[in-house]
Amino acid sequence: SWTPDNFVDMTVASLKEQVGTEKVVLGLSGGVDSTVAAVLLHRAIGKNLHCIFVNNGLLRKNEFESVLDQYEGMGLNVKGVDASARFLDALKGIDDPEKKRKAIGNVFIDVFDDESHLIEDAKWLGQGTIYPDVIESTSVNGPSATIKSHHNVGGLPDYMKLKIVEPLRMLFKDEVRRVGASMGIDPELLGRHPFPGPGLAIRILGDITPDKVRILQEVDSIFINGLKESGLYNKVWQAGAILLPVNSVGVMGDERTYEKCVALRAVESTDGMTADWVNLPYKFLQKTSNEIINRVKGVNRVVYDISSKPPATIEWE
Ligand code: XMP
Repeated sequence: SWTPDNFVDMTVASLKEQVGTEKVVLGLSGGVDSTVAAVLLHRAIGKNLHCIFVNNGLLRKNEFESVLDQYEGMGLNVKGVDASARFLDALKGIDDPEKKRKAIGNVFIDVFDDESHLIEDAKWLGQGTIYPDVIESTSVNGPSATIKSHHNVGGLPDYMKLKIVEPLRMLFKDEVRRVGASMGIDPELLGRHPFPGPGLAIRILGDITPDKVRILQEVDSIFINGLKESGLYNKVWQAGAILLPVNSVGVMGDERTYEKCVALRAVESTDGMTADWVNLPYKFLQKTSNEIINRVKGVNRVVYDISSKPPATIEWE
């Protein structure tokens, strides 16, 4: 019968056979799938696995530094590439959601291609593809493929000409987590909420500026840390904050303010295809809202999103 330990043993053995002494390039995202794929490959081929972790400037607050540290602590051969400026530059003035995705996808391809060229004689591209991704990309009406272009691959960069190795291709998400746990990966990393590739770019409605990214990072960090401190984080499938392109009137001391509004979103789901908003305790919402408005300059109003999917989506863009 299937057990995580058996899966690890068998997969490591077959990866050794498949890849031999050749080099593999793999893009880490900070998420569960790419991390588990990397640790499996690392067990099989060690330093011949070359990981690349790109900072697109749209990650959560402090995420790039802390996740990179964590990867290094796991013994992975990883290079952190801070390409924030390139991404933010490419996004300048763009407010259409699909155009944002395209711009981010294109810069990512360029950065990853440049980096993979630096790894001499790489023969393989490692990927954290899991079974639902395989289904989604082959079905004609996979909703995420048609409604939002999740995987924006345009042209054919050189790294796409590498042979593909996908050790998690047959696994569901919960199996990936169990495999990760059996290899000793930090439970906190394995329990992380899903986070979209385009990151905060699709949670900032309208055009993106460094200032807006900073505001949203602060708001998101207060919300997510609050969920963790209140023991609510693991009861929620995904949570985050959205910066709205709306100013509204408020009052601070005896000054009138005219500042930004943020929405908080927390959903329950099993696969992201459908989702219900989470009934977070009023006390928690109250505390979080006060903290956001008191601590984040430029925000004077917080709302909670009570829409389910369908007909709304999880992200606002
Ligand atoms: P929606 O908004 O379509 O989101 O209900 C469903 C799930 O997909 C994630 N999502 C994305 N992930 N690139 C990604 O890698 C994207 O462009 C993208 N758009 C949405 C979303 O966070 C949720 O988990």
